[in-house]
Amino acid sequence: MSGKLVIGNWKMNGRLAANLALIESMLESPALQQARVAIAPPFAYLGQAATLLADSHIMLGAQDVSAFAADGAYTGEVSASMLADVGCRYVLVGHSERRQYFRESDAQLGQKLQAVVAAGLIPVYCVGETLAERESGAYREVVAAQLSVLSVLNGAECVVAYEPVWAIGTGKVASVAQIDEVHQYIRATLLQCHGGSDSICVLYGGSVKADNADAILALESVGGALVGGASLDVNSFGQICQAAKKTV
Ligand code: PGA
Repeated sequence: MSGKLVIGNWKMNGRLAANLALIESMLESPALQQARVAIAPPFAYLGQAATLLADSHIMLGAQDVSAFAADGAYTGEVSASMLADVGCRYVLVGHSERRQYFRESDAQLGQKLQAVVAAGLIPVYCVGETLAERESGAYREVVAAQLSVLSVLNGAECVVAYEPVWAIGTGKVASVAQIDEVHQYIRATLLQCHGGSDSICVLYGGSVKADNADAILALESVGGALVGGASLDVNSFGQICQAAKKTV
């Protein structure tokens, strides 16, 4: 596998028949061959995806995880250990939609991060400012406060995803200069505060599409892409993977 990491976040989309068609077309697509790529379907379809992806290079991720690590009476929850059991490698933690609709607190996110690492999986910790925070100029402070939760990991392997909330699902993409500035800032902050190594992977997410992937993924500070809408279409997702493969 070569190039930067691309993770497809399916969000709350998919049905058995549609997933089968999409995953089969991904497995057949030359654009995905050799790419460092993962998909994160809804919990209900992780087993189906794991079966279809067995023996392939396409990795599996989950979109969320319980803050409770141990088995027990937590109705509706899915633990990190269960995600490991069904074959996940990555777990999104703190996606802005979860922060916004489910009011996930820093304390909960810290527990989720620890549970993911304890299960031997890699968290993909999402950060990003709202439009109001961007316009007020406070976006660096917002991102720094979100990053501070990572101190619970004591340097364990983690991927960070910078996703400006105003660019998610809106078709508005941050400019290459805006992305580079925040990515450099995140890398510097992690290095300084959390002893993260220089090799820390920071993905960009927010309306990444076939037509902007080349420019975004060419940035040295960008370690890959977290793709929502465009990950549901094999041609668009393939072109993003193609752009990622060209990079080192
Ligand atoms: P989008 O979503 O690509 O549809 O903007 C990205 C994300 O929320 O991970």
